[in-house]
Amino acid sequence: YTTDSYDIERNPAFAEISAEDVQHFKSILGDDAAVIDGVTQDATDDIEAYNKDWMNKYRGHTKLVVRPKSTEEVSQILKYCNERKLAVVPQGGNSGLVGGSVPVFDEIVLNLGRMNKIRSFDDVSGILVVDGGVILEVADNYLAEQGYIFPLDLGAKGSCQIGGNVATNAGGLRFLRYGSLHGNVLGIEAVLPDGTILDDLSKLKKNNTGYDIKQLFIGGEGTIGVITGVSVACPRRSNAVNVAFFGLESFEKVQQAFKEAKGQLGEILSAFELMDGTSQDFVKKVTGNKHPLEGEYPFYCLIETSGSNAEHDQEKLEAFLEHVMGEEIVADGTLAQDDTQIKALWAWREGITEALGHAGGTYKYDVSIPLNELYKLVEESERGESKALGVVGYGHMGDSNLHLNVPVKKYSKEIEKALEPYVYEWIQKRSGSISAEHGLGIAKNKFIGYSRSDTMIGLMKQIKNLYDPNGIMNPYKYLT
Ligand code: FAD
Ligand code: MLT
Ligand code: ZN
Repeated sequence: YTTDSYDIERNPAFAEISAEDVQHFKSILGDDAAVIDGVTQDATDDIEAYNKDWMNKYRGHTKLVVRPKSTEEVSQILKYCNERKLAVVPQGGNSGLVGGSVPVFDEIVLNLGRMNKIRSFDDVSGILVVDGGVILEVADNYLAEQGYIFPLDLGAKGSCQIGGNVATNAGGLRFLRYGSLHGNVLGIEAVLPDGTILDDLSKLKKNNTGYDIKQLFIGGEGTIGVITGVSVACPRRSNAVNVAFFGLESFEKVQQAFKEAKGQLGEILSAFELMDGTSQDFVKKVTGNKHPLEGEYPFYCLIETSGSNAEHDQEKLEAFLEHVMGEEIVADGTLAQDDTQIKALWAWREGITEALGHAGGTYKYDVSIPLNELYKLVEESERGESKALGVVGYGHMGDSNLHLNVPVKKYSKEIEKALEPYVYEWIQKRSGSISAEHGLGIAKNKFIGYSRSDTMIGLMKQIKNLYDPNGIMNPYKYLT
């Protein structure tokens, strides 16, 4: 893919970066390492990683990356860009899956990687305050030492940043237990395009004094400002964690297992994840590992419980296992005996994204649809398979969130046309969402109308214009 295939043109209202601009950024940041300058010198190799997305699907053409260390520096950068009408892409860990974190043309990349300080933690309330660029896994490891857990977990934890997680309103693997960042994020510090520092780094759980403006930044995908600080309510880490892995004969059985898990494990259930047989074949092929279950099944589920009393949890889990096996809801299953086995079982779920990437590329659809039809979309999308390497379904069963993936050797317009808008129409008919947790970016923005009414899109555009009248923040994405 190149920008040519985006079918869009560079907005001529944006200025082109000059040598004076670069000089100005260097003077703001006061440190040469904070500016990767491809304007006055050849820095193509150094800049490549910032221009290319995780999926190898989108590639931008920036010549300038700025890496501020403080909120004040972000403010000065944005104020200058706004005055000069220089377009900007905020970038966190660059693990996003909708092409939102890389430039399309020559937008400046504002990378948060150097804003990586844990600011404070209160071990009674569990409230953590961090810079926007703190890596999720770093925050979670820090919390583990204090007996707490970050309320979000996902496969890209080693590279994604909390600012990026908040900007995408990431859902992840334990959403069923800890809920949305819209609830867990208590406060945000952000910089608006004109340089204003929005200082709403509240640590309050309850605060009904006017509009809750921070919510606009949660899932705003960097289109109205840069998130520089986040305060988040973190739960205590459970000391009894168990993971079971099941093979099941049909999607009806998966639904029964889910219903039983909610009934019998309700208060300790922390994840209920779905994987189809094809997804496991991809992981098997790439890792060469032996699958935890002997037989082959069309569906697999990973169930995690997290509780405070190991004995109670064990009792509940055993009764549940006896029931689902006895009733033949589950065909086969295994229970992790220690932390190493827990990690190994999770790898069969978390490793799917990377395994699919080895194929060459993947058309990714991240959808919310009613649970009873969740897998039907995968079956009915096999029409796009002739030129692909398969059709794969997995996802967050607990949240009615399916990941339909079509791995291919090479991205091609032909395959894309076989799948789109077919998949989006299918979702619209069920009043679903074309993006459950990954966002819109440049991959899905054209299709927002399949999930949102004209009235809603109109209101969103008003908000965008209010916060970013020059349109410099992450252009060509989200709302077009
Ligand atoms: P980036 O990719 O750098 O940016 C994402 C978007 O946010 C861009 O639009 C960017 O402009 C904007 N942005 C980034 N930082 C800021 C900031 N500080 N201020 C303002 N805007 C900003 N997502 C899920 O929801 N659930 C999952 O389970 C999940 N699993 C994943 C597993 C793998 C292996 C991979 C590669 C990705 C996965 N993702 C998942 C997608 C991705 O990890 C998330 O969207 C993540 O939240 C992005 O964080 P990031 O720091 O990498 O952001
Ligand atoms: C996941 O649930 O594994 C992530 O959202 C990434 C993906 O969709 O592949
Ligand atoms: Zn997911």
